Amino acid sequence: MPREIFEAVQARRRAELRSALVGILPASEKQLILEIGCGNGHFLTAYASAHPEQLCIGIDLRLERTDKALRKRDRAGLSDLHFIRCEARNFLIALPVGVILTDIYMLFPDPWPKKRHHKNRLLQTDFLSELGARAGQGSRFFFRTDYQPYYDEARAIIASHPQWRLLPDDSFPFEHVTIFQARAPVYHSLCARRSSPDPYNRTAPYE
Ligand SMILES: C[S@@+](CC[C@H](N)C(=O)[O-])C[C@H]1O[C@@H](n2cnc3c(N)ncnc32)[C@H](O)[C@@H]1O
Repeated sequence: MPREIFEAVQARRRAELRSALVGILPASEKQLILEIGCGNGHFLTAYASAHPEQLCIGIDLRLERTDKALRKRDRAGLSDLHFIRCEARNFLIALPVGVILTDIYMLFPDPWPKKRHHKNRLLQTDFLSELGARAGQGSRFFFRTDYQPYYDEARAIIASHPQWRLLPDDSFPFEHVTIFQARAPVYHSLCARRSSPDPYNRTAPYE
């Protein structure tokens, strides 16, 4: 696809996403729990059931997965839980200014094991910076994978990132087995906190 057409398509997607988000986000609610690559929504539906006072959004590239997640959400009757089919970077760009990601979960992201595909891994330094720009000081990032090389790389990326700091305790504040977790004989988790000053000077949700 020629570059200018690709960029026009991306711009249209972001504009549609932004209006969808403006429709979803209540004016009074500025804090958000985000799950990136939510699949069929098992984790976030369980999370939202346990935390009905929090606004939760799960995003995934695949429509059939977000459709399944939405059916799960509807069966559970959770009004503050939303699933959107979109790409994670587009989501961060489209997110209205002033909305703070307080907790971000990335569970079993695609591992892209072949060396020539590593560039496709979602967790990269620039993506972590984009997450940091939309998180508040003290916001947390939770990452889990069954692919040890991706885990090691994620730790190294976070450890050297100026905005994020690895936490000594790798246990998650909430647990619910995802589809990929159920298939994994072993997996590895990490938790990080956004530590540098907030460029938007917003209030810290977790201090
Ligand atoms: C291996 S699956 C894990 C699904 C779920 N988290 C679980 O543990 O069962 C990874 C998911 O991430 C989604 N994904 C991959 N890249 C993405 C991106 N850039 N933006 C949003 N979702 C993405 C895929 O469509 C897929 O559903």
